Amino acid sequence: MLSVAVLISGGGSNLRALLEAASDPGFPARIVAVGADRECGGLRHAERFGIPSFTVPYPRFATRDQWGDELAAQLDVWQPDLIVLSGLMRLLPTGLVARYAPRIINTHPAYLPEFPGPHGVRDALAAGATQTGASIIVVDEGVDSGPIIAQERVPVLPGDDEHTLHERIKPVERRLLIDVVRRYATAS
Ligand code: GRF
Repeated sequence: MLSVAVLISGGGSNLRALLEAASDPGFPARIVAVGADRECGGLRHAERFGIPSFTVPYPRFATRDQWGDELAAQLDVWQPDLIVLSGLMRLLPTGLVARYAPRIINTHPAYLPEFPGPHGVRDALAAGATQTGASIIVVDEGVDSGPIIAQERVPVLPGDDEHTLHERIKPVERRLLIDVVRRYATAS
C-alpha cells in the first residue's frame, strides 16, 4: 500500500478529493499525513478524515532552509513513499527536493510549461489564452520545471475571471492527481 503525505497551504479541495478517493478500500494508496506551511482550511479536511496533520509555519524560521529542515523532520516521522504538493504555496528548498526526489509530485493549474509559478491561472487570463490546463509534474529544483506526468487542456471561456477559470481547472487537476497516485501505487 503506497503511503502518501500531502502538503498544502490553502482550502485543500484537491486534498479533499484525494482523501475521498483514498477512503475507498480498493484504492491502492493511503494518506498518512497532511502538512501545511500555515494554518489553513485544508487541515480541517484531514481532521474530518482522521488523518494526522502538522504545520511548519514559515515565518517562524530564519531561512527557507531551516524551514525545510523542520518540514523534512516532520515528513520523516511518516516515511511517505510519495509526497504530493497540492496547493503548497512555497518553493521547497533544494536540499529537501534532493532528499526526496523523485518522490515529490505537484499539481499545477496550467498546461506546463505554459504559465509556471504561483499565478498560473491569472497569467493565462492576462495572456489572453483561449485554453490553459492542469498538470501533474515531478518536482525538481526549479519552479514547475520538472518532468510532466499528466496534463489536460481546459478551455478559457469568455467572461472568465481567475476564480471561475480556477474552479474549472481544479476538477481536472483532481482527476489527474488521483489517477497519477493510483499509477504510482500500482507501479510500486
Ligand atoms: C490548486 O489549483 C493547485 O494546483 C494550486 O493551488 C490550488 C489549490 O487549491 N497550486 P485547493 O487548496 O486544493 O483548493
